[in-house]
Amino acid sequence: MPPQLVCFDPACCSRYAITEAIYTCPACGSLLEASYDFSELGAGMLRSSWHGRRLSPDPLDQSGVWRYREMFPFLDDYSRVVTLREGNTPLLDAPRAAAYAGIDALRFKHQGYNPSGSFKDNGMTAGVAQARRLGMQIVACVSTGNTSASMAAYAAAAGLKAVVFIPHGNIAYGKLAQALEYGALTFQVEANFDQILALVRELAAQEGIYLLNSVNPFRIEGQKTIVIEMLEQCRWTAPDWIVLPGGNLGNTSAFGKALRELQQVGLIDRMPRLAVIQAEGAAPFYSLFRQGGEMRSVEHPETLATAIKIGAPVSWPKARHEVDASGGVVEQVTEQEIADAKAVVGRCGIGCEPASAATLAGIRKLAAAGVIRRDQDVVAVLTGHLLKDPDYIYRYHTGELEDPAGRRIESTFGNRPVVVPNDAARIAALLRES
Ligand code: F0G
Repeated sequence: MPPQLVCFDPACCSRYAITEAIYTCPACGSLLEASYDFSELGAGMLRSSWHGRRLSPDPLDQSGVWRYREMFPFLDDYSRVVTLREGNTPLLDAPRAAAYAGIDALRFKHQGYNPSGSFKDNGMTAGVAQARRLGMQIVACVSTGNTSASMAAYAAAAGLKAVVFIPHGNIAYGKLAQALEYGALTFQVEANFDQILALVRELAAQEGIYLLNSVNPFRIEGQKTIVIEMLEQCRWTAPDWIVLPGGNLGNTSAFGKALRELQQVGLIDRMPRLAVIQAEGAAPFYSLFRQGGEMRSVEHPETLATAIKIGAPVSWPKARHEVDASGGVVEQVTEQEIADAKAVVGRCGIGCEPASAATLAGIRKLAAAGVIRRDQDVVAVLTGHLLKDPDYIYRYHTGELEDPAGRRIESTFGNRPVVVPNDAARIAALLRES
């Protein structure tokens, strides 16, 4: 059976050609996912061919996404791929963060090492390849900043026109700067993420623009490789927990799909549990798990972790399925917890942006509640680079950070810069005191 797009709603399951430029099911409006026949794949063959490609000079093999292309074979011609050597991100031991969380050991899969500094690059190289295959000239997205930075980079490299829509005044400066530098036409819209997504979906349909938000099923296909590469680094022994921040929930959907498919081809023999962490002021997915039923949007989401400031995550039905299928959990954390956890990730010599630090804050909370056991094997995904949001960092360390309600955030692990006169003796005295 050739690759197809399949409606994710079990009551519909309509199938479409992989070459249709659609994001939701034309029959019922639900999300779509790519579906393949993996029956010819063998775990041993995959393991050795992925390992062998690490020595290859071919750009496709050097990509930490396309190296694993057997797991997302939607293209018929790989010459359309544009790679910036995305993926290839490290799995880092963080004993100090583990101690802070109250567990024995913790590893971070740091997606901030990607070319544009976030996990979005894993999905974007796949989405842009599909855009080129479909002959699209213009790509667009709405973004809390990282998707736009990534899309702008890959569109520039592929020679496509990029149009990004961002909530005015609500994205970190580093991310806005990237979209401008990579040459994207950038609209700062006076609305929140959820409102702009509705607007952009309408515009894309009217204007023949290819939409590269995470509703795009090919973005999800590329993001699966975050988990594939992680498990290869774990020598195919699944950890007990994979912890990630939740915003629009594309990544949760991608991780769950990857795990199911890895199990299907025999690369892992058990499922790790997914733990999705949201910021308290933007936690509709957390509320869904507490209350059940349908997801209720948060109309005015609020968090300083602007990457996950989303009140109506589009991928929630997929994400719910994946969390349930993995026996996972959803937790929420406060602004103070995120800020302190972020400083601790920094003190490990690693660093990350605020949304990523929700993971460590969440692990600490789940460990205290006995959900994560001290001796369990935990991998947390750091989704974005430290330098994405330097303003937040400076304010935290100087005691100037305030939460969205205007309450001061304690700089528990603050590290103020010290202003000194140009005087060696005085500086030496200060050094001895410190
Ligand atoms: N962490 C970071 C750094 C992000 O940029 C995002 C999402 C998430 C976590 C949440 O991932 O949406 O898959 O649940 N950023 C999107 C953007 C929404 O537009 O850049 P998710």
